[in-house]
Parts: sequence; C-alpha cells; structure tokens
Amino acid sequence: MARDETKKGLLQDTEGRPPDSDGHESDSDLEATDYLDREPADQPRSFSAPTPRKQWWIIRCLGRRSRCCIGTLAVVIAVFIFLSAGGAFVFKKYQEEPPYGQSPPWYPTPKGGIAQSWAASYEKAAKLVGKMTLAEKVNVTTGTGWQMGLAVGTNGPAVHVGFPQLQLQDGPLGIRFADNITAFPAGITVGATWNRQLMFARGKAHAIEARGKGINVLLGPCVGPLGRMPAGGRNWEGFGADPYLQGVAGAETIRGIQSEGVMATIKHFIANEQEHFRQPWEWGLPHAISANIDDRTLHELYAWPFADAVKAGVASVMCSYNMVNNSYACGNSKLLNGILKDELGFQGFVMSDWLAQRSGVSTALAGLDMTMPGDGLRWANGESLWGPQLTKAVLNGSVPVDRLNDMVTRIVAAWYQLGQDDETKFPRQPPNFSSWTDDRLGVLAPGSPSPQDEVVVNEFVDVQANHSIIAREVAAQGTVLLKNEGLLPISRQGLDESKLEARRRVVEQSTGKRHDGKFKVGVFGEDAGPGHGPNYCKDRACNQGTLGSGWGSGAVEFPYLVSPIEALRKQFDSSKVELHEFLTNKPLIASNDKATVDDLDLCIVFANADSGEGFVKWDDVSGDRPNLALQSGGDDLIVDVASKCGGGNADVIVVIHAVGPVLMERWVELPNIKAVLLANLPGQESGNALADVLFGDSNPSGHLPYTIGKSLADYGPGGQVLYTPNGVVPQQTFSEGLYIDYRYFDKHSIEPRFEFGFGLSYTTFTLSNLRVTPRKNKSALPAPRPSPAAEPPSYPTTIPSKDEALLPAGFRKLDKYIYPYLSPEDEIETGAYPYPDGYDTVQPPSGAGGDEGGNPDLWAIYVDVAVDVKNDGPVAGAVVPQLYLEYPAKEGVDFPVRVLRGFDKVYLNPGEIKTVHFGLTRRDLSYWDVMEQNWVMVTEGQYTFRVGQSSRDLVLDGKW
Ligand code: BGC
Repeated sequence: MARDETKKGLLQDTEGRPPDSDGHESDSDLEATDYLDREPADQPRSFSAPTPRKQWWIIRCLGRRSRCCIGTLAVVIAVFIFLSAGGAFVFKKYQEEPPYGQSPPWYPTPKGGIAQSWAASYEKAAKLVGKMTLAEKVNVTTGTGWQMGLAVGTNGPAVHVGFPQLQLQDGPLGIRFADNITAFPAGITVGATWNRQLMFARGKAHAIEARGKGINVLLGPCVGPLGRMPAGGRNWEGFGADPYLQGVAGAETIRGIQSEGVMATIKHFIANEQEHFRQPWEWGLPHAISANIDDRTLHELYAWPFADAVKAGVASVMCSYNMVNNSYACGNSKLLNGILKDELGFQGFVMSDWLAQRSGVSTALAGLDMTMPGDGLRWANGESLWGPQLTKAVLNGSVPVDRLNDMVTRIVAAWYQLGQDDETKFPRQPPNFSSWTDDRLGVLAPGSPSPQDEVVVNEFVDVQANHSIIAREVAAQGTVLLKNEGLLPISRQGLDESKLEARRRVVEQSTGKRHDGKFKVGVFGEDAGPGHGPNYCKDRACNQGTLGSGWGSGAVEFPYLVSPIEALRKQFDSSKVELHEFLTNKPLIASNDKATVDDLDLCIVFANADSGEGFVKWDDVSGDRPNLALQSGGDDLIVDVASKCGGGNADVIVVIHAVGPVLMERWVELPNIKAVLLANLPGQESGNALADVLFGDSNPSGHLPYTIGKSLADYGPGGQVLYTPNGVVPQQTFSEGLYIDYRYFDKHSIEPRFEFGFGLSYTTFTLSNLRVTPRKNKSALPAPRPSPAAEPPSYPTTIPSKDEALLPAGFRKLDKYIYPYLSPEDEIETGAYPYPDGYDTVQPPSGAGGDEGGNPDLWAIYVDVAVDVKNDGPVAGAVVPQLYLEYPAKEGVDFPVRVLRGFDKVYLNPGEIKTVHFGLTRRDLSYWDVMEQNWVMVTEGQYTFRVGQSSRDLVLDGKW
C-alpha cells in the first residue's frame, strides 16, 4: 500500500472509554492493577515500557503462591496500609494547613492569538480551522496512540482542509530511534560550553536532521529538571542547575531549531525534578509525586527558563508527569492557563508528556491542547481520554466549543508560524524512518494488531551532513578543566622536552637507570574504551564502555562513538610513545601488569557516572542516582592507578564522563593527580574532542554548569531525591525555596570542591574596568500590561451537530488506533456538568503578562554593565566572564547571596583585549512579589554587580 493510501486508511474509529465526567484531575477510580498489568513484550524498542521495578504495591506477587511470596505480600500490605494512612494524613494535613496551598483554579483558558509576532499565523489558522468539522478538530488535538505511527508521537490530520499529521520525535540530543543521524553532546555538555553561538548551532543542526527525517516537532530542549537534586536522573538532558543558564541555553537552542522551521518543544513543565514517582505506573503507585512549590520559587527558579523559551517563540510546551501542589501538571489550570498562557503569553500549544494526561474534560479546561501519545491512562490500549471522548464532551457541552477551537487554532497557528505549510520543506508524509524497526519494510501502525500492508518504513536517509564538526566543538568546549598543575596540555610525543627531562630525572633517581626509551603512557578504565559498542543496551540504559550520553527518551542510537582510546591510539606519535591499555576498572593489585605499570611515565584514568529516565533501571540506578559516587568502582580505580602509576611517581590525568556532579574527595588532592578533566557527556565525537583538549588544539573553555560539592549532604535537604514514597501521593516540598545548588552553598557558606561556573584554561585572563551605565530609571513595577496587539480568532460557538463526528462510511478500522469519531448509537447525555471549583470566576489578567514572553517591559534593558577582558597568557583561548547580581536589602524580602544574570564567551589571542557587555533586563533585576503578583524591582539601595570567571572568583564589582 502506498503511503498516502495507508495514511487515509488510518482515519478510522475505535470504541472509546466512558466519558470522563468528573471534571477533576483525579484518576482515583482506577484499580492499582491498571498501572501494572501491562507487559512490555509487545513493545519493540518502546521507550516507556512500564516495567515496574520497585513494587511498592502488591500486584506482582499475586500469581505466585510461594510462602515467600505470601510473606512478602503481608509485609507489602502492611506497608501499603501504613502509606495509605500516611497519605490520608498528608492529604488531611494539606487540606487543613496547606503549606504552599493547593494549586488554585485559573479559568478560562486564555486564547492564543494576542501577540503581534503570531498574528499572521493565527489569521491563516483561523481560515483553516473555520472549515474543519468537529471530528477533524478533535483529531488534530489527539495522538493516534502508542506506536500508531512511525514517530514516537503522531496526531490526527484534518484531511479535507489539508492539515497533515504532525510527526513528533525525541529528543534533546539527536533524533531518537533513527539511523544516520548525529549523536550530539547532551544538554549538560552544551550548558558547560557557556557559548551562546554553539547552543544555537547545535539546535539548528539538530533541526536540519529532524526535517531531513520528516519530523515536524522536536521533543526538546529540556530545561526541567532544573537540577534541584544533583542525583536527579535526567538533569543531563538540561543545561545546568541555574535558571538563567538554562534559560539562555534553552532559548538559543529553540531559536536554532526553529530557524529551520522545525517546532521546538520546551519540556517538562514543570518541577519534574526526580524520576522516582514521576508517574504512577513505573513505580506501582496510584499517583505520581507532588512537587510542592511556593509561588516565588516557581517564578524565580523553575518557570524562569520556560519564560525565556516562550519569549524565543517556542511552538510547544510539554507538561510533565508529576503533580504540582497536588494537581497533575497537565491538568493544573493555574500552571497552564494562568502562568503559561496568561502571564507568559504562550501562543503555541501545550502537549502532554506521554500518558501524563490523567483526565479528560478537566485537562482541556485547564489548558492542555494536545494529548500524547493519544492513549489515555494506559499504554497502547486504544482508549483515549480525548479522541471520541473529547468529541462527546464538546457535544454534551462540558468542553466549550470555544476551548476546542482554541486548542486546534494554537496547533495550526504553530504549524504556520514555522512555515510548515511549505510542502517542499515539510512533505505531507510519514517520517522516512521507523521508530519501531530497523528493517526496510514494516507497517505504519505497528501498535495495531489489525493486519496491514507492509511498506517501506526505513529509507535510511543520511542527514548527518557535517554536523560532527559542531558535535566535536560542543564536546571540546563543554569539557571543563578542573585541575592542572602544569601538566596539560601534553604533546603527541608524550611530554614537551622540559617536562620530559624532569620525568627522566625522577625515573633516574628512583631506579638508578637512565630512561631513554619511548615515553610510556597507560590508559585505564572501562570508560576509555568501546565496551560492547555504544548501542549495546536498549535506550542506552546501562553503563558500559565509554559514556557518551545518559539513558532514556533523551538518548539516540549512536551512528558511531569515537572512544577515547581510539582517538589516543591514532593521535599519539607511536615512534615516540608506547601506549599501554588497561580498559577495565579492575584494581591493579597483584596484576600481571605490575612491571608495566611501574614503568609508566604518564597515566590517564577514566571513570564515569550514568543515570537516565525512570522507566529503566541499571544496577542500583533507578533513573535517579543513589549517590554521587563514580560508578563501577571508578573511585577505587583512580586511587589505585595514582598509587601505582610509575611506581607511584608518575603523573596522572583523570578524565570523568558524568551526568552531573560526582564526588572527587577521595582522589582529587592526591599529589600525582596533576590534572582533572570533566568531559560531561560528549556524544559521538567523545575521543576526538578529548584529544583536542589533551593535546592543546582546543584550549579548554568549559565551565561548570553546577556545583561540585564535597558530599551529597552539602547540597542541603532540598538536594536529596525522595527514594521512598511518603504517602499515596508522595509529597516533595521544595521548602529550600530559592536555595539550590550554588545559592544553597553561598547562603550556608559551604565550601564546594569546585564552584558553579568554575573552569580553567591553558592561558590566563584578566578582567578590568567595570562600567555601569544606567539605561532606564528604576521603578518598582513594570509598565502596565499592554492591551493585546492582536485579536484571537473568533468562531461560532454553537455546539455542532453530531453528524460532524460520525465515522465516515467505508473506512476500515484499525484496532486500537485512536480516532475522533462516534457511531450513531453513541448517546450524548447533556446535563449539569460538575465544573471544577473556581471555574466560574474569571481571573484578572496578570500584570506580568501582555505579550509573548510576558509584559514586554520585563525584557527591556535597564542597566548595562561592561568589562574589559584580556588574554594575558601564552596561548589563544576563550574566556567566560560571568555576571552575578546582589540585590539591595529590602525589609521582609529574603534574597540569595548572588545570582547569575549574565555571561558571554569571548575568544582572545594572547595579549588581545575585548569589551563584554551585559544588558540587564527588568526581569533580571526583579524578584517575584507574591502580594503584588508581579516582578518587582528594588528601588531603594543599590544593586551590586560582580563579574569574574566563576561564582566565587568575582574580581570586579560595580553598583547601581
Ligand atoms: C519523556 C519525554 C519524552 C516522551 C516521548 C516521556 O517518557 O518523559 O521527555 O519526550 O517520553 O518519548
């Protein structure tokens, strides 16, 4: 069957669930088994196969009648009763004295179409949407079901008006499940570059590949998790533990992606800070975790980068799995209607994370616009909370027609906004690869058991172009030099003459023999080698071989991975250097290699720490890391190598690949560990980029995007993952408020091992001459909210006829595929609908809103800070001047010691001087005032601006 025919053939119906009638976010009518009884076996390469690992519930045992099992069951039931009681208590307690308040209602959903920047797209969208039938509208909002298309997500088309299915694919570091693509460095590595141009370039290259593969919507970038907890499993998909850094990197990535016409998706909105209990079914719980956040912290930390994303024009926002203040994020009207669509003026569409939608009508009312993958409460069962249920809900009046129109208009407007109506760039075809098979032939909806014709599903289109150059540059610039006692860079001949002579003297003194042979380098650790190959484990969910990325939906199939050893083998001059390889983490004690190790002149030892998305567990890492130790015995290996390399006399370089902070206390100060490089997660060009840095072709310019503490406890109570559920709805209260990462360390005067923003270079820089130039006068509140620059489209609001939603005659049904249609027998029951509390109270528009990205005055520059930077060292290199702001004291308001509010990266030849400007916006200078419900600038006293090369190396200051 030709592709087009099949596509049309898929427009058929399936039976639906009973209508969602409660109008609330709860799914408590479900049995626990609903979350647990799915078998992953029928999901080849599925990303979220719900393989429950820690069963906090009873279900798994039930089939087995062993005594052990009954015992376990008893214990588990007891634990359950305890937890339920705990949960009830927590619920009760929250009702009586909500510390952060139950998320308040915010209705109705603000309509898209108020921003000048989107006005033309909305006009076009209105024409198209105005012609759609009810069924077509619903189709556009609802995914077709898990594995009911070739991408990880596909919505339905509106065929008669020419609106195609959109193809949605992960993820933040490359095109997931695809061949012949680039495995870029992960977000955390990008953050470590502190290089805006590279952030943009990587996004652009990523989008070129997406378009080349037939993808409309990229499911990235990721700025949530923000990095509250250093052990959080998915921190590596984002850019670092600071909202400003995340915001800049996210916005640049979005601009890069969208410059190619591909829609970017900023995710996960919001507070999905840990993997444990992020959603119910992976963890055998009835409910996901609730992240309880106060209003100010939400604005100043977690929502901050999302505001940058909206300001950058992001097409889509993905709401997260978890609850926020005890209301599911994808059904939380305060978050979606209030903050995102009113205050931030988001003009695109909100899509759910995969199965993060937990109810039907109430999510539509709360501001969700698209449900993914379409299946509702369970994977791949063909039962959607929208689809035919949304059709019914519109017909029975519970979801206003207006709301449906806005949902669809937002999606169609985003499509126009990105120019995707241009068929030369976005042919209306399925992707040219399949997420579900590597074979050339396959079916278009493998999730359906219905017989289907085989078609070509993998065309193996090579979209890599020269993107390996960008990947390598990001990996090199994202490598942080943490320690260097005169050792790096090394030369391809080993060491340069003077260092070599020093080494010879050491050897002569200790052995009495002149060392005239080749320079002997030992390379240690599994992390230096290829292991079983980069794609050995599904979704990269194991730690073996060198670590190029974390695991989960944010990972890709590596086209190749240049391991460190491969690059070193090639690049060391074999006429001068003898390379000895020990690509294992096994201790060297009593090894046959003792003699060889005794003779080494230099050792390079590799170790790593991995984590990933919570749907897979590796070793003791259930998504989130259990601690900040190096894995697979990495610490022991480093200590061992340091004590034995060259009989304990030779120099050692440590190279770390990691998803986030690792503790280095056991070895970082050992005298012969002369250099430490943190290469983060470098992607496919790992070895090449590392060699660039080691041999000095690339002068290291990476800086830490997080703090490296001396212990996990140093990050404070807020830095700890909740590993055990503390109630039916696990409660995680962000009581540390604004104090995460360096803000916590600074507030409590805790000495980190390496501070946020830290990174060395092979040259030295001086900063001087800080100037402060006011641009506008201080005033407490932003200018009044402007009236909308454009009018949202308006459509007739009468409820359409059911006829618009009937299954078209003659369509073949695909089982489990999700359609919008009803059958003539479907009854539409009308009556009083139990709308959520507060539904009838129209909320006043936020003073912080008014345009895409919020009140435009928040983005106006109020003060300019300039500094001169000079390279006063011997070699060319890039410096990262960072500006941190200290607020003036204000009674009754607590401020962090200082916060990052500006950075740049400047390349300088030796002796060269350049001026760097930091433009501080009103938002940069304000705090979120919960009483005003607005950003407030402090008008009394003076702001202090400190500029330097890390959060604790701030040599210049100025006042305003
Ligand atoms: C992840 C999302 C991802 C989606 C689709 C979910 O499990 O949380 O980040 O985009 O799957 O693969």
